[in-house]
Amino acid sequence: MYLTKEEERMLRGDYGYGYRKAMEILVALGEIYGADRLIDIESAHISGVSYKNLGDEGLDFLKEMARDSRVRVRTTVNPGGFDLGQWRQMAIDQGFIAKQLEVINTFRRMGVEATLTCTPYYSQNLPRRGEHVSWAESSAVTLINSVIGAYTNRESGISALASALVGKTPNYGLHTYEGRGPKITVEIKFRLREIHEYGILGYLVANRIGNLIPYFKGLGRPTIDMVKYLSASLSTYGGIPMFHIENVTPESKNYEPPTERIVIDEKEFKDTSRRLRDDLDAVDMVWIGCPHASLDEIKYVADKVRGRKLIKRLVITTSRDVLLEAMKEDYISVIRLAGGEVYADTCIIVSPMGAGLKGVLTSSSKAYYYLRGVNKSKVYVASIDKCIDFALGGEL
Ligand code: F3S
Repeated sequence: MYLTKEEERMLRGDYGYGYRKAMEILVALGEIYGADRLIDIESAHISGVSYKNLGDEGLDFLKEMARDSRVRVRTTVNPGGFDLGQWRQMAIDQGFIAKQLEVINTFRRMGVEATLTCTPYYSQNLPRRGEHVSWAESSAVTLINSVIGAYTNRESGISALASALVGKTPNYGLHTYEGRGPKITVEIKFRLREIHEYGILGYLVANRIGNLIPYFKGLGRPTIDMVKYLSASLSTYGGIPMFHIENVTPESKNYEPPTERIVIDEKEFKDTSRRLRDDLDAVDMVWIGCPHASLDEIKYVADKVRGRKLIKRLVITTSRDVLLEAMKEDYISVIRLAGGEVYADTCIIVSPMGAGLKGVLTSSSKAYYYLRGVNKSKVYVASIDKCIDFALGGEL
């Protein structure tokens, strides 16, 4: 891979330990994937920020990097282990809080913004079309590649940090025209109606096509929340970094629909929906907000629970910016008055608060994967409407 004189100096260690390490990571990646050079990026987004994921080893690595290096582009981060304003209500262990704050402060020393959300594109960090960026958080990667037309590979937390420090990323894969081309046409033969159904569709498509980039036909014109759910499932179940929707997504006109094709009908979709419903003995939490809830989703919940009392535990996770917006509109006070909990900066998967949950009702097919795998919970995926009705005392 070609390196400029400055990049060579960085790699040699002339700029200090952090930049040398970062360059080593980028050069190794570039060589594995056949990149010709490094290209400038406009922003970075780092995942794996919870102390629950990092542990002491990860924290020590970050502290080493922070000794002498600072990010060169706007850099945001994924959720951590608790809500910075509500750790008491969340009953988080003091030792964990101290370690998580150390992680956040270490990032801040490097110039990283402690946005602590997996949906930075709702407000804090929205790339522009055609911009090269280096993002981790697979659901956000798939969304910004597909819907916004930004260019990023599926980075890990470490490679996104390395890119943030150097301000560059290796030029391969999704940074190239060829790497973004669709490989299979996916024809949808029925109408999807609700947001959560896009998550189920993503699960189904990923299970059928693996990690190929799909070109959707018959998907209509989904909203940003719908494609958020679709992106989350395509990336979780198939590692799919991008999709095209005919006449909708910005690059769909740049490519011909591939001749290899699958068809998905309503029967297959309904059968798949049933597969995402475990037999629950008990439901100890209803969770909305994976990926982090939008203002529209929070408004929807507030409108449904206004003036009522929740019977089951309802938890909503969102970004701090969206939380503040929702507070201005009074949605949060309405939900809290009904007995619901709303947290920013964190989620049930990366926070210790998710430990020991036996049964969870959620609108998210991505959460289905992680709650079962990480938390060993039983999970039932349903519409936001059904989730709230159940939390209000209804039947499943
Ligand atoms: Fe976000 Fe946590 Fe889901 S980081 S995508 S809410 S698992």
